[in-house]
Amino acid sequence: MDLPVVDLAPYLEISAKHGWDGSDLPAEVEEKCSVVSRSLRDTGALLVKDPRCSTDDNDRFLDMMERYFEQPDDFKRQQERPDLHYQVGVTPEGVEVPRSQIDEHMQEKIRKMPPESRPCIPTSQDLKWRYMWRVGPRPENTLFKELNAEPVIPQGFPEWAEIMDSWGSKMTAAVEVVAEMAAIGFNLPKDAFTSLMKQGPHLLGPTGSNLQHHGIKGTIFAGYHYDLNFLTIHGRSRFPGLNIWLRSGQKVEVKVPAGCLLIQTGKQLEWLTGGECLAGMHEVVVTQRTLDAIEVARQHKRSLWRVSSTLFSHIASDLTIKPLGHFAEGPDASKYPPMFAGEYVEQELAAINLKGNMRL
Ligand SMILES: [Fe+2]
Repeated sequence: MDLPVVDLAPYLEISAKHGWDGSDLPAEVEEKCSVVSRSLRDTGALLVKDPRCSTDDNDRFLDMMERYFEQPDDFKRQQERPDLHYQVGVTPEGVEVPRSQIDEHMQEKIRKMPPESRPCIPTSQDLKWRYMWRVGPRPENTLFKELNAEPVIPQGFPEWAEIMDSWGSKMTAAVEVVAEMAAIGFNLPKDAFTSLMKQGPHLLGPTGSNLQHHGIKGTIFAGYHYDLNFLTIHGRSRFPGLNIWLRSGQKVEVKVPAGCLLIQTGKQLEWLTGGECLAGMHEVVVTQRTLDAIEVARQHKRSLWRVSSTLFSHIASDLTIKPLGHFAEGPDASKYPPMFAGEYVEQELAAINLKGNMRL
């Protein structure tokens, strides 16, 4: 199954008009908004094209991250901040615990899946490294200081802040447009989601997976899990390996066409829509297509680190998440009680971080 590709350009053109309030959308743009909301609801994912995010931007980002992940472990561990729940700086491999390894309810669901849809069952922590970089302005006063910590810059990378901020702001801009289009598609005011995203603890969180050491079919880099944030957006990775699960339970190996960005639904969107959208389950494993890409990279003497250019967009920590508008009347709305977005994030981090949150 191919995910729909939505070109954001026509919507961008209209929304750039001075004083536009979201009304009087041309039918073809309204239809695009419906495709966005429908795809997020039915598949938990969507492909978009944003004329403001070029392939060159993505490559510049991937080149720098490959160079970083190729550094010795001792160097990378200087950017580790376990006291801040790894929410800035580097998270080494072997720290993050996939939800499916600790959540018995999830394990029960996996056992009931047909074999062709079953995820790889992780037996240990994730084998991926990750770098966390805050994007965008933070609130001056917040109850959730550690979720809004100052960034960490590795030595010897003078271009670091500029490249991270540039890629991060482009991805945030793309995800904001998707959030507006989704709101329109769901018959909510166009800023229903974006007004809650302002000063959110948006995170650029590229992962690095060492295919030289772990390039064996079936190796799990990120075990079956959902994302705890609002919407996740990825640029194209140089190595395939991402599997997603549709709402129907079908497992799909994602192919991101050149020039496209991949959007996935996170738990905060599930909350705001009272379960109309469910957080998309996914995993990253070494597949036959990954092995084929490794072979090509070896022949061209390219890096064997699989870097994902991922940005996690969030609802602002001090705002309340609860089903919005007509979603408050939905059949499952009571499963999503109001709580601070930051409080929800802390609960999730406590469950998946080995050395993380000691407060809960
Ligand atoms: Fe994820």
